[in-house]
This record gives sequence, C-alpha cells and structure tokens, in this order.
Amino acid sequence: MQLFVDTANLDEIQAAAALGVISGVTTNPTLLAKNNHGDVKSVIQQIAKLVPHGPISVECVTDDAESMIREGETFVTWSDNIAVKVPMTVEGMKAVHHFSNNGIKTNVTLVFSANQALLAANAGATFISSFVGRVDDIGFDGIGIIREVAEIIELHSFNSQVLAASIRHPLHVTQSAAAGAHIATIPFKVIKQMYDHPLTEKGVASFKADWDQLQKSNLTPA
Ligand code: G3P
Repeated sequence: MQLFVDTANLDEIQAAAALGVISGVTTNPTLLAKNNHGDVKSVIQQIAKLVPHGPISVECVTDDAESMIREGETFVTWSDNIAVKVPMTVEGMKAVHHFSNNGIKTNVTLVFSANQALLAANAGATFISSFVGRVDDIGFDGIGIIREVAEIIELHSFNSQVLAASIRHPLHVTQSAAAGAHIATIPFKVIKQMYDHPLTEKGVASFKADWDQLQKSNLTPA
C-alpha cells in the first residue's frame, strides 16, 4: 500500500517528503484554509515541487460539471503531477467522465459507500477516496467499507485505486492496508506515530549502551 500525506502545510510536506516513504499529497479546501493559503496556485506549485514524483490532489469547489471541468483543466496547467479532486456527486461524476476521456487524473472524494465507489470507478476515477474516520465518528465501520470497495474493484478489474482517507490514527493505516486499500492518505502527525514503538526505542538504547560499554572496556570488536 502506498502512503500519501494529507495536508496543505508546506513544512509538514517537506518533512514528509524527506522521510522517503511518501508517494503523493492530498489537499482539500479545509486543509488549504487551515494553512491560510489564499493563493492556491502558488501553494500547489510549491507542493508539486516538494513531491515531484507523486500525484498532488487539488479539489474542485464549484457545483456543476462544466465549472468543475474548467477548474480541473486550470489545475493541470499548474504542474504535470496534479490529480483533480472531485466530490462524489452527479455533476462530479460527469466531470470525472470528461477528465477520464481526456487523460486527466482524478481523485473522487467524500466517498462513504460501496455504491458511490462503484459509480466513481465506472466514471473512470483514477483514485477513489473512501473516508474512514468520518464513518467511524458516527459509529459505523469505515474500514468495512474500504474492504468492500477493494473487493469490488479487484473482482471487476477496475483500474481505479482505492485510497483510504480521513485517517485518524496508525491503526486505521494498518487496517486499511489489510483491507486491500492501494493507498492511504495520512495526516503528518499520524505518519510520525507510525514509526514509534516502545520496544524499538528500548532496543536501540540497549544496543547503544552495550556498544558504548564495549568501547569503554577497549575490547577489539570480534
Ligand atoms: O483530505 C481528505 C480526507 O482525508 C480528509 O478527511 O475527515 O480528516 O477531514 P478528514
């Protein structure tokens, strides 16, 4: 499963890119607003330079297909690694169908059911963002939907990739991978948490202490 970082914070993206484990970036209007990015073109171009190899998802904010198509066709002039993020609506799928027929990558977002994912796949979505955390937040099984969507995509050989989104903690990442997601887009804070394990920390300290002890006793390493 590939890992994307879910943020519009340039410092976080720079740090995430330096880790060597990130294959893309997803943004959304809330993340852009949170980071006071009024000039979306400028910040997306900066992000696209920080992660040149990966798709950078930029979200449409208009309501009708024609307007979304105009937005998306503008986004892809900003960099050659853009995926146009389109909400799972009737008009959004018309736009995705257009983008698919014109070689423009898409990320269908705000997907909360297998049927929505099926519609997105049939429209030609490149990525299908099935939200986990927001489903869990209301007491339902977000990972169960990931598993259902992944099974359907696999069973019917759709080209779309299942992207687990709305990730709240490291267990969501593990469960998304086990459920068959192709990608998880993860807040930077959660990426950092994924590295941590108390036994690793304890083991590193113990190896270092033993090595330092060996140096002190001046023994030549075997
Ligand atoms: O960016 C798409 C998705 O990952 C955001 O989910 O629930 O954290 O707003 P959420």
